[in-house]
Amino acid sequence: MTNVQIYPDAGALMRAAAELFITIADEATAARGRFSVALSGGSTPRALYKLLALDGFARQVDWSKVNVFWGDERAVPPDHEWSNYRMAREALLDHVPIPEVRIYRIPGELSPTLAADVYQRMLKEFFGEANPPRFDLVLLGMGGDGHIASLFPDVPLLHETGRWVAAAKTPAGISPDVARITFTPVVLNAAANVVFLVQGPDKAARLKAVLEGPHKPDELPAQVVKPVDGRLVWLVDKAAHPPVYGAVGA
Ligand code: 6PG
Repeated sequence: MTNVQIYPDAGALMRAAAELFITIADEATAARGRFSVALSGGSTPRALYKLLALDGFARQVDWSKVNVFWGDERAVPPDHEWSNYRMAREALLDHVPIPEVRIYRIPGELSPTLAADVYQRMLKEFFGEANPPRFDLVLLGMGGDGHIASLFPDVPLLHETGRWVAAAKTPAGISPDVARITFTPVVLNAAANVVFLVQGPDKAARLKAVLEGPHKPDELPAQVVKPVDGRLVWLVDKAAHPPVYGAVGA
C-alpha cells in the first residue's frame, strides 16, 4: 500500500513525520515491547531528528524501548563531520534518554566491506538469522538523483537479493565523495513501515518520475522500495509535489 501525504510546507511535513514516528513507536512498543528504527542521513531527515528532540515530542516517546540503527553510513569515523551517526547524535540522540546499549551504529571507521559484514552480524543478533530484519520503521530521504540510503542509480546492489548490508561506492558528483555502507533492498522491503521524507523544489521532477512515471528502478532507486508486507508512506511538501508540475518553485 503506498500513501502519499502532501503538506503545505517543510514545517508541517516535519510535524507530521514526528507524529507518525511517535505513533509507530507506540504501536510497536505495545505489541512487542520494543521499537526498532533505521535512520537515514541527509538534511531532510535531520530536520525531523531536531524536532523529535524538542520536549513536546520527545516526552511522547518511551526512549527506553527505542533501538536505533542506520540505513546507511559514510566510511568515516563516528566523530567525523560526514558521519550519519554523528549527525543523528547531535540532532537527536544526545538530547533524549535513550540507553547507550540501544544505539547500533555502523562502524564507518572500518573498511566498508568489513563494516557491512559486522553490521549484518549485528542485525542478525538483534532480529534473528532466519529472515531479513523486520524494522518497525525505516526512515529514508531521497537524493536529487533518486538515490535512497546509499543505493545510487545503476548499481547492481539495487538487485541484491542475498546480502542485507553492503559496501557502496559514491558516484561522481555526489557529496560527500566517500565510500558508504548501506542496507540493501532486502532490508528496506522487509520493514513494517518505510517512511520517505522529501522536501523542496529541487526534488520535484525526480519525485514525480518516481511516483508517477514508468517503473525504472535502475534510474530511480527509490522505486525499488516496495515493502513485501508493510506500509510505504511518502511525506512530502508542496514544493516537492506541486499541484500542477512546475507551478511551485519552477
Ligand atoms: C546519506 C543519506 C541519503 C540522503 C538523501 C537525501 O547518507 O546521504 O542517507 O540517502 O537521505 O541524499 O538527503 P537530503 O535530505 O539532504 O537531500
